[in-house]
Amino acid sequence: MAKTTQPSWLDSAVFYEIYPQSFKDSNGDGIGDFNGIISKLDYICGLGCNAIWMNPCFESPFGDAGYDVSDYYSAAPRYGTNEDLRRLFSEAHSRGMHILLDLVPGHTSVEHKWFKESLKAEKNEFTDRYVWTDSVWEEPSGMGCLRGISDRNGSCAVNFFSHQPALNYGFYKPDRPWQQPMDAEGPLATREELKKIMRFWLAMGCDGFRVDMAGSLVKHDEDSKGTIALWQDIRTFLDKEFPEAALISEWGEPDKSIKGGFHMDFLLHFGPSHYNDLFRCAEPYFSERGKGDASEFVAKYLELHKKAGGDGLICIPSGNHDMERLSFTVHGDSLKIAFAFLLSMPGAPFIYYGDEIGMKYLENLVSVEGGFERTGSRSPMQWDKSTNAGFSSAPAEKLYICLDPSADRPNAEDQISDSNSLYNEVKKLIAIRKAHPALLSCGEIGFLSDGKNAAPLVYVRSAEDEKILVVLNPAGKAAELGLKAEIKETLYSFGGEIGRDGEKIKIPAKSAGFYKIA
Ligand code: NOJ
Ligand code: CA
Repeated sequence: MAKTTQPSWLDSAVFYEIYPQSFKDSNGDGIGDFNGIISKLDYICGLGCNAIWMNPCFESPFGDAGYDVSDYYSAAPRYGTNEDLRRLFSEAHSRGMHILLDLVPGHTSVEHKWFKESLKAEKNEFTDRYVWTDSVWEEPSGMGCLRGISDRNGSCAVNFFSHQPALNYGFYKPDRPWQQPMDAEGPLATREELKKIMRFWLAMGCDGFRVDMAGSLVKHDEDSKGTIALWQDIRTFLDKEFPEAALISEWGEPDKSIKGGFHMDFLLHFGPSHYNDLFRCAEPYFSERGKGDASEFVAKYLELHKKAGGDGLICIPSGNHDMERLSFTVHGDSLKIAFAFLLSMPGAPFIYYGDEIGMKYLENLVSVEGGFERTGSRSPMQWDKSTNAGFSSAPAEKLYICLDPSADRPNAEDQISDSNSLYNEVKKLIAIRKAHPALLSCGEIGFLSDGKNAAPLVYVRSAEDEKILVVLNPAGKAAELGLKAEIKETLYSFGGEIGRDGEKIKIPAKSAGFYKIA
């Protein structure tokens, strides 16, 4: 198995995640769309982001906001046509940007024609497209299922919500007659179809995929050996046909995903990552209260970083469509310091739309399209002070999700013209990152202080002969740290620069700084 090489553009990529339904509505129906996104590409570029991850935009009944695909080959009409999407790719490219689609390989919607065929009692081409038991009375163990909904005598496994039947990539260790091995005809046909879908969009101009639930395709696959092998096969296909395409996994186990041929794996907000210790808990590390602790995060991060190996990357998002917005638990100056962290770590950063202006998490919204609590992080982007914050010309009650009703809701236009805004701090940080190889995705990292008991978080990023010291002290009290290295130049500072006292540095309260060192 050849070693996966990173597409060269990933090293300097800074991603912006777009939730298409909530970004910009161009035709007044209350739902964001491709033309709306195209009209805002200059805004994304202006911030400094040069890559986009767009959530699913394919035909779907939208029971899980599009993570329930009913046709992988067609754009959802509410966003536009395949031609509009092709234009979005080329408009992004003409600005030097790359764009990833969201690939949902594990399940479809119950509305998918494959599933409708597989429901039939008579055998047909799609009988084995999904994971079915051979009796309605037997449930697939360890998975939820659909049963008794057609005359097919079996139960169909589901992956997430009960309207998302699991596609069949086989079982690593089959132990029931209905469990097919990975190399059986049905599972292989599903896999080839997946390649076909990828080929279709890559040929149209997308630059790769964020892959949903990438680690759970093969069933009864305790150590993920089967799923890793499956992705290695996809890697071989991509290396041959689309070597510059990026593959980024929602997996959270870089030792496995990178082995499978992914370039980068997301640090997840669930499981053992300690991501939430920094941002989303009662006492987050990024708080002036100074009661948080980053040390367990750092220990876990270093373990994962090591497991990812030389070439694999881990990316830490500011948030996403599945969790509360960053500004729900991180406030004021701490938000700027949190961005100084996010934009100085290895792996390509991901900024969730609106986080750059501190958009709020809206509590207690009625669920929209399977969002449940997540709905509050999916409200329309706030562009300006005009009607519907510039998101749409539709009547307010027709908006996909209601707008933040607060009088002081932030908006992009005001923040662009305010030199002290979060937007301008994020923009400055992105520019500094992109100007320094040591700060890019592939640069090395070594920690000098791990943020234990709210101590500063201090690390050195390095690449070639450049070394950059990053010093973050979100706490409301000053701190000191031993440092022998010579400080050559201040590249960035917020809340005051560090001072020198012999072999110690003095770190101001509520500050962040990047320094060239020798
Ligand atoms: C992860 C996606 O991010 C989430 O929004 C979705 O509901 C599940 N996977 C199921 O596809
Ligand atoms: Ca629209």
